[in-house]
Amino acid sequence: MSVALVTGASTGIGAATAIRLAREPGTELVLVARRKERLRALADSLPCKATYVAVDLTSAEALERVRAHLEAEHGGRLDLLVNNAGAAWRGGFAESGHANVARHMDLNFDAVVRLTEALLPLLRAAAPSAIVNVASTAGRVARARTGAYSASKFALVGWTDALYAEELPHGVHVGMVLPGFVATEGFPATELKEKALTRWLVSKPEAVAEAIYEAGPGGKPERYVPRFYALAAIARILAPSLIRRVLTSGAASDLTTSTAADRDPDSPAA
Ligand SMILES: NC(=O)c1ccc[n+]([C@@H]2O[C@H](COP(=O)([O-])OP(=O)(O)OC[C@H]3O[C@@H](n4cnc5c(N)ncnc54)[C@H](OP(=O)(O)O)[C@@H]3O)[C@@H](O)[C@H]2O)c1
Repeated sequence: MSVALVTGASTGIGAATAIRLAREPGTELVLVARRKERLRALADSLPCKATYVAVDLTSAEALERVRAHLEAEHGGRLDLLVNNAGAAWRGGFAESGHANVARHMDLNFDAVVRLTEALLPLLRAAAPSAIVNVASTAGRVARARTGAYSASKFALVGWTDALYAEELPHGVHVGMVLPGFVATEGFPATELKEKALTRWLVSKPEAVAEAIYEAGPGGKPERYVPRFYALAAIARILAPSLIRRVLTSGAASDLTTSTAADRDPDSPAA
């Protein structure tokens, strides 16, 4: 038996990850996100024991609710933590300012750190166990109008690297997944999917779910999805002026895709 908790499981990469993990014999799943009906429907559809906690991970009650749920429903056991919940609100710094940076940090970094701190004792007790942090290729390469999102993902990447080294002796493997463009509810990538020239850049949530499996139970330290996105990260270090030239050219504007939060102020991500 092994217990896996996936945040952001109501849709997109998190839901695909829950479906992927449910294929492993003996798995119990804990699904976390804000939308209860989505979580309930997914939990009911899975072929294994699956429970859920409908909570805003940035709220003060989140940690206690998740801890208490694990105790009550899964005997206080946790073998795999997938920190996947996240969002992006586009905007240049001059217009969106510190407030936009703060809300990205709150969800994409602070909430991950706080949840990991709360659950690390359970993961150590269950060792060998694993954490997977879902970062982004934007945690290696930043585009215009995504500075706040990139700042939160750069922070997550740096912290994850340190945690990998710290938890190794305790038997808690810390893996990281860095997706490129993946068409989901929150990140529809419409601008790229519309054009034959850029459609090939867009991946599927199921591909990221497989990478999350590899970076968790599979023991890989990091995975780009698709793998060729690693070239962007390498080029940022080895040829920074080339990357700057590409990312400030007119053609680069499509690379700052709009998100659900930008397109619909009534979306749950907004
Ligand atoms: N798709 C991409 O192109 C892409 C690329 C690189 C990295 N990523 C990363 O991959 C992760 C998943 O993204 P996705 O594409 O699957 O996005 P998505 O479709 O918008 O899903 C985001 C998930 O996070 C949950 N969530 C958002 N705010 C939350 C909060 N305050 N508390 C609890 N849960 C919250 C959402 O559920 P509720 O609305 O129900 O709360 C949803 O389940 C994110 O960390 C994202 O940064 C995505």
